Amino acid sequence: MQDTTIRLHSETTSIVVRIANGGVAIVYWGPRLAAETTDEMLMQLATRSEADGDVERESAITLLPTQGAGFSGQPGLAVHRSRTAWGVYLEPIDATAEESSLAVKMQCAGTQIQVEHRFELHSDSDMLVVSASLTNIGGTPLSVQHCAALTLPFSRQLDQVTTFGGRWSLEFQRQTTPRRLGAIVNENRAGRTSHGSLPALVLHDAATNETDGIAIGLHLGWSGNHQIRVDELPDGRCYAQLGELLLPGEIALGPGESYESPRVYGTLSRRGFNGLAQRFHRFVRDELTDDRVKGKLKKVHFNTWEALYFDTRPATINPLIELAANIGIERFVLDDGWFRGRDDDTRALGDWFVDQQKFPEGLAPIIDKVHAAGMEFGLWVEPEMINPDSDLYRAHPEWVLHSDPAPRFMMRHQMVLNLTLPAVQDYLFDCIDALLNEYSIAYLKWDMNRNLEQPGGRDGIAVVHEQVLAVYALMQRVRAAHPQVEIESCASGGARADYGVLANTDRIWTSDSNDALDRLAIQRGFSQFFPAEVMGAHVGPRECHITGRNLSMAFRAGVAMFGDMGVEADLRELTADELTILSAAIEVHKQHRALIFAGDLIRLNTEDHENAFMIASASREQALISFATLSSRPRGAPGRLHIPGLAANRRYTLAPIWPAESSHDTDGVLAAVSGQTFTGEALACAGMQLPFMSPGSLLVLSLRAHP
Ligand code: DGJ
Repeated sequence: MQDTTIRLHSETTSIVVRIANGGVAIVYWGPRLAAETTDEMLMQLATRSEADGDVERESAITLLPTQGAGFSGQPGLAVHRSRTAWGVYLEPIDATAEESSLAVKMQCAGTQIQVEHRFELHSDSDMLVVSASLTNIGGTPLSVQHCAALTLPFSRQLDQVTTFGGRWSLEFQRQTTPRRLGAIVNENRAGRTSHGSLPALVLHDAATNETDGIAIGLHLGWSGNHQIRVDELPDGRCYAQLGELLLPGEIALGPGESYESPRVYGTLSRRGFNGLAQRFHRFVRDELTDDRVKGKLKKVHFNTWEALYFDTRPATINPLIELAANIGIERFVLDDGWFRGRDDDTRALGDWFVDQQKFPEGLAPIIDKVHAAGMEFGLWVEPEMINPDSDLYRAHPEWVLHSDPAPRFMMRHQMVLNLTLPAVQDYLFDCIDALLNEYSIAYLKWDMNRNLEQPGGRDGIAVVHEQVLAVYALMQRVRAAHPQVEIESCASGGARADYGVLANTDRIWTSDSNDALDRLAIQRGFSQFFPAEVMGAHVGPRECHITGRNLSMAFRAGVAMFGDMGVEADLRELTADELTILSAAIEVHKQHRALIFAGDLIRLNTEDHENAFMIASASREQALISFATLSSRPRGAPGRLHIPGLAANRRYTLAPIWPAESSHDTDGVLAAVSGQTFTGEALACAGMQLPFMSPGSLLVLSLRAHP
């Protein structure tokens, strides 16, 4: 096949792909190009001189750069056959292009492999989706050490790299590092998406902020191990590479067998981090959200975990059902502790049968009560896990992942079932299926509380890749058999949040921390890639069980109302005042959730001790602003909040809507603007003087455009 270039277009974006001997490369990704701009022009403009002290013919940064093509950076593809056949040099054999999709087949005669790169450019979200598939066309087994999904060259102008990670109960923290010669690498070997490293990054320059500036966002939709890196080569070129991290020996392809990389989702913005977030959100809404839940308003949850932990009995649950219904809860979720012998976290995982001691009449009386109170019922499960102290383990000790003869490590007293075994898949499906057939359950909270540190299958071969696919398959099987059931992805909080799992689930449990101050940072990082309607956000107890911090009910509820709202506090312990405030907050959420779950997120630039964002309807008819003070202000009086993104010439009436009773400090300023009308231009350019607010307080403002 001749060397060629192919263009993909969305309404506002063009991508130019160069297909040539040596590999396929993205040579342009930016604003939509006019027909007058030819590919030849782009290639001419890209002509480079030989770098000082470097090879004569510079090897292109292709989607899968290889040493066999002269590339000396991190290869995108690393394979061998018993130590030979590693020098991959890919040549094009076929390309099928449409307006917004492309599939290119490449082949290496020397190593006997075929690669297929797939591109889709989604018009409304401007999201580029890329993946690679690798096939062994030789007659002997092919060892695969690495096969990235995407390697993307980018401009040196983008000299900042933002990644997202943290730890249990403080996930999705943004971390910005200046790009430098060498590599910035995030590797995850947790065997699940992880608390430590979200498989995503944003490339930008130092001037980019929430509302302005250039940024590229990339996300790997995969719930296993990953490697995310940004390299700057000595010759000055820069690239980002995202792919699965494979363990030693994990992938060996027999003749004719293929490896499919996860998908990378990428988009670019000239409107700062907000522009990126809006495109990721649009994509989730258009493409990942299942038709079953599209357009449905998410229900307000009550979850029993922090109220009861393992003390789940009719006597403890029943009073919560009544209290939950009284404050406007719509779905009651029974968390951990309901199945046979599960009195604490040391036992019973795997035995997915209702505990007859705790529930002699089964769950039916509880569920009936929940229904009678006008709520749906949801149930917690953790299918992938097993406690050694369980009937399942006693019957099938051979069903767990291990790396024998190394000692078996426990995490939360549990091990991981080998879901790649069909018998395990069937057992788990049958258990879940039986529960869903017997009981009227609208929702499963699908938890996963340990890493896969010892992910060896029966023959000792590492199976993280297969295990992830097996989990997706089990979720799909449950969904297909019970389409009415929504599923939440939880993994000790937010350790399984990615587009791979989101394609099979309906909600993500963002974090085990319900500390509303920490939550603002967690939700801010999370919201770079995920929209509000999949972001589980609960009002926790007065004193946070994780941080020990005390925050007011008005603040806790004001933070939770901007996600898929829920309550996890022990309602029996709340004062009458707190219950009134909570129920008012739930009402505010219900009144505005159609906007929160469909609007554009516009995070506002603030001082460091503040946090502010707006959710505006696409038509800019209405918007909600959340403004929070996190810590003491550095100067005597607060500054102004600039509110960009509304229609410049339209007039908006401003109304504070939360908290219902503002503290006296805020009164003067709020009285001056309440019920008044301002143009979008005035709000953006002049900005609103902020009121005095104490640390740990927030304000929600509504803006409605005049017809
Ligand atoms: C970890 C989850 O993140 C919590 O919300 C809760 O469901 C516990 N597991 C239950 O064991």
